[in-house]
Amino acid sequence: MPIRFDKDTKAFTITTKRTKYVFSVAHDKYLIHQFYGKKSERFDFFAPYMVSFAPYQKSFGNGWSPDVFPQEMPFFGSGDFRCSALKLREANGSCVTDFSYDSYKVYKKNQTVPDDLPHARRDADSETLAVKLTDSVTNCVLTLYYTAFYDEDVIARYFTLKNCKDCAVKIEKCMSLTLDLPSCDLDMISLYGGHYDERHLERVPLRHGIQSVYSRRGASSPQFNPFIALCSRNATEERGDVYGFNLMWSGSFLDEVEVDQTNHTRVQTGLGEENFGYLLESGESFSSPEAIVTYSPCGLGNMKRNLHDFIRRHVLPEVSTRRPHPVVLNTWEACYFDIDEEKLVKFAKEASSLGIDMLVMDDGWFGKRKSDWSSLGDWYPTPEKFKHGLKSFAERVKAEGISFGIWIEPEMINPDSDLYRAHPDWALSAPGRTPAESRQQLVLDTSREDVLDYLKGIFKKTFDGVPIDYFKWDANRHLSDVYSNALPPERQDEVAFRCIKGTYALLKWFAEEYPDAVIETCAGGGGRYDLGMMQHGFQIWASDNTWPYSRTWMQSSALLAYPAATMSCHVANPGGDVRALDFKYKVAVGGMLGYELNILDMSDEIKSEIAREVREYKTFEHVIRCGDYFELVSPFTNDHSAYYYASKDRSEILLSLIEKENTKPGVTKPLKIKAAKESASYTDALTGKEYNAEELRRGIRLPLTGDKDTATLIHLVEKK
Ligand code: DGJ
Repeated sequence: MPIRFDKDTKAFTITTKRTKYVFSVAHDKYLIHQFYGKKSERFDFFAPYMVSFAPYQKSFGNGWSPDVFPQEMPFFGSGDFRCSALKLREANGSCVTDFSYDSYKVYKKNQTVPDDLPHARRDADSETLAVKLTDSVTNCVLTLYYTAFYDEDVIARYFTLKNCKDCAVKIEKCMSLTLDLPSCDLDMISLYGGHYDERHLERVPLRHGIQSVYSRRGASSPQFNPFIALCSRNATEERGDVYGFNLMWSGSFLDEVEVDQTNHTRVQTGLGEENFGYLLESGESFSSPEAIVTYSPCGLGNMKRNLHDFIRRHVLPEVSTRRPHPVVLNTWEACYFDIDEEKLVKFAKEASSLGIDMLVMDDGWFGKRKSDWSSLGDWYPTPEKFKHGLKSFAERVKAEGISFGIWIEPEMINPDSDLYRAHPDWALSAPGRTPAESRQQLVLDTSREDVLDYLKGIFKKTFDGVPIDYFKWDANRHLSDVYSNALPPERQDEVAFRCIKGTYALLKWFAEEYPDAVIETCAGGGGRYDLGMMQHGFQIWASDNTWPYSRTWMQSSALLAYPAATMSCHVANPGGDVRALDFKYKVAVGGMLGYELNILDMSDEIKSEIAREVREYKTFEHVIRCGDYFELVSPFTNDHSAYYYASKDRSEILLSLIEKENTKPGVTKPLKIKAAKESASYTDALTGKEYNAEELRRGIRLPLTGDKDTATLIHLVEKK
């Protein structure tokens, strides 16, 4: 029973395998956060105390100020001056928001999930605690849903709000999860970056006041990833307290951390307030996106593995972990827009002969698309490029013994397109203003049903009978000029939120319409590397930057929050250099391998090396996709990096050592493979060298050559 209510203390306890989360009801009104930490740890219940000038309800006494006690759901304007989770505006202009505890219920399995939003997949044994709060002034009913994911030590939370009054209220701030922690000596870890530069890891000590990461771009964005962690100052891979947070949402978001006058820390994640508002008419309901939190008492490594297990089991489509990911040959970096049937059939033939599983035809196959200036929206194949149509082309590709994938960018429109000429009002743009273009394109208003219907119609017609195994779903700009011609003035704050909901609806339609195909998501590189996309996508294109030195840290930081199964990693353009190819390959096998190169231009030597790599990769792909990840040497702070994946039963281990450009010759520190199975013996399947578990656990030292483009892989297989 992960969820318990104790009548005496009025405390709810949510337990997972190694953690417990406790909150209680005070004065039949407030939800007081009590504890989140190790299951075995003892804690003291919050004792009320007075702070100068803190507001309180007279009947409860001046020790009970909402500005002081740790809260589960802080409301705007009713005495808590810290960051709030919910702000409602009534028809009379009042923003004072205040709800009181009403009742609770425990649900089994899938009985509660947020409406039309991504959410973690519940298991047969999942339990959800629903805590109902009411407000006699607005007549709104607020329900907080907590779901325990027992094995992975993850708790998910979202809320619903129902307006039971006869007039509308407006949601002006929405945060899905709040966690008040009784300390402030913590570091915050976040991932910032930009296009071609995704996911730099930043770790800074918290200071008093508010610190945040966010997106106002209508996409979760490469500028800040929605994932953050708070950890004790001395936390390492293996030691220290770590709390990891994420939001299952692909649009604008806010992760807010506030250290207050009492040296407590409030962490929140949600839609925020700046780019969001939602009018709730009488009788209507609203669901917030689902947020997740995990706690690790033993460092960052354990947090990563909790999150990886959770995402594989409860977020990614099951097919993503169940079967090997295809090794793809993608046409983008080899051809850009210069593609046609004959050329790509030759690509397919070559790729197939090297053991590559799939040809992915990237941008450039539709409308009059010769560059990024035109045709987004005109989703029919260019007749000159595909003389006998898409179906016949795809069948020719498949006849080469290889699967077929195709690139689409459904949410976008070029002003130079038939679609725009017919429906200029379908692009986001404010009345009387010229919308800003980005990559020569505008954003389609996917909050509109007619836009979604058009997209479904044209894709259905174009893809009718075409044997597609894989869609690469791109989105190459952020949302500016956010105004929908289909919504009234009082609903314009909802447009960006509704657009992402429209995108999810379209993704769902694709999954239903093409059940045998999978979707790789992408957003101008890794611009929507988030849990919302992972619910629909099989894997994500991690970055347009395929330079292996950059990829080393990009992959390491993605693995902070997301498993390797989500991460497309391509070997791009090695030219004729076998050594460069080898290095790029050894970096790319940190995730799901693919290639982006002009296979027709490659020498026989390069091609046979690619064939060897593909064969080799397939012998350990399952360890990367489904195994546990251990980082040994971080690429952020060292001149080389090292990590390993261990299969769940520890019978296989893949160790990787990557030297950077400036590595000094010598040897590594002992690389301790602590996951090696006690008393087992292993053979490196790549060299035949033998190791025993004891020496692996003590640590092996590998040579550092100091030579450019050098990496070492060791594939340990247990001797039976
Ligand atoms: C951006 C993506 O990240 C690239 O891989 C490629 O698909 C281009 N878009 C195509 O326009």
